[in-house]
Amino acid sequence: MHRRRRLGFVLVAALTTCAACGEHESAPRTLTAEQQVLADAIVSRRYKMKELDVELKNLRDGVSSENPDRHAMAFGAKTVRSHSRGQLDWFPEGSGPELGIETLAKPEIWQNWADFEAAADDFEAVSDELATVMGDPDATPAERSAQVKATMASCNSCHARFRKRVVPGKEVER
Ligand code: HEC
Repeated sequence: MHRRRRLGFVLVAALTTCAACGEHESAPRTLTAEQQVLADAIVSRRYKMKELDVELKNLRDGVSSENPDRHAMAFGAKTVRSHSRGQLDWFPEGSGPELGIETLAKPEIWQNWADFEAAADDFEAVSDELATVMGDPDATPAERSAQVKATMASCNSCHARFRKRVVPGKEVER
């Protein structure tokens, strides 16, 4: 309780400092209720994407391991499949860079919505297959590895078109 109040104070102090420093003009200081919903969508989709990243890394490590934890891999693949569902809802209209909140999403998403939808559909299909293969005790290591690669390819093909380039060591390219 005490800690939380202190954190609140630090945040307010940080915001006040920033409001005074001019170069951060693009970030709105107060958001309308509607903008807040969009800002929350950005934060939660980035979080889910990071979770996807962790799961894919675990799966990659798993397929290259001599003695993989099959149970953990099957579970990880199910998490990927569940994150592939409803992905379009993570990108409500207006939650692009125009909102002034840090995001890697390109405006092309909303300009070419049908293509973005196709990329999300592809990811759903590939994730279904990933969950099936990882849950199949008879799947061979080669089959498992191929499916992890196919999933990565699906992530990458959407990113290539719809996500700003990520610069190592920098959260978001400006
Ligand atoms: C249909 C398109 C699409 C698919 C499929 C997709 N992504 Fe993303 N991803 C995006 C977009 C757009 C962003 C930028 C989101 C933002 O910043 O608001 C993003 C952001 C990310 C980020 C950066 C998160 C951050 O803010 O630090 C990571 C990591 C990531 N994706 C991993 C993955 C992985 C791993 C997969 C596959 C398992 C995947 N993504 C599948 C479109 C996609």
